[in-house]
Amino acid sequence: MMQISRSALATIVTGIAIFAFAPTSRAADMDAAKALARTNNCFKCHAISRDKDGPGWRKTAEKYKGNPDAEAKLIHHLTSGEMVKLADGSQVHHEIIKTDPANDTAQIKNLVDWILSL
Ligand code: HEC
Repeated sequence: MMQISRSALATIVTGIAIFAFAPTSRAADMDAAKALARTNNCFKCHAISRDKDGPGWRKTAEKYKGNPDAEAKLIHHLTSGEMVKLADGSQVHHEIIKTDPANDTAQIKNLVDWILSL
C-alpha cells in the first residue's frame, strides 16, 4: 500500500489551503472597492449594470477594454474634478474621490481596477 509521509501530507494540505483561499483575497479587494465607492456616494450616480446620472460601470469597463491607459485615465477622472454632463443636461465637476488617509492612490487604484474588471 502507498504510504504518505506526514510532511508530504502537510504539503498537500497547505497547497489545498492556498488554492482555496486565493479567491478570497480578490474578494477582499472588491469589498474595499465597494466600501470606498459607498463612503464617497458614488452609487448616487452610478450602478454596476445600469445607467443612472453616470454610466453603469460595466459599460465603463467595456469602453476601456484593451486600452492600456484605462487605469491612468480613470485615476485622473476621479482625482481631477473634470466636467461631466448629468442626465438633465447640466454640467458639474465630477466628484473628487476622498480616501482615508487622504490621497491614498492604492485605494483609488483598487477601486479603478475593480470597475475595469466588471
Ligand atoms: C453627481 C453624480 C456623480 C457622482 C456622485 C459620481 N459620478 Fe462618476 N460620473 C458621473 C457622470 C455624469 C459621468 C459621465 C461622464 C461623461 O461621460 O461625460 C461619470 C463618469 C464616471 C466614470 C467613467 C469615466 C470615463 O472616462 O468613462 C467613472 C469610472 C466614474 N464616474 C466613477 C465614479 C466614482 C468612483 C464616483 C465616486 C467617487 C463617482 N463616479 C461619483 C456622475 C457622477
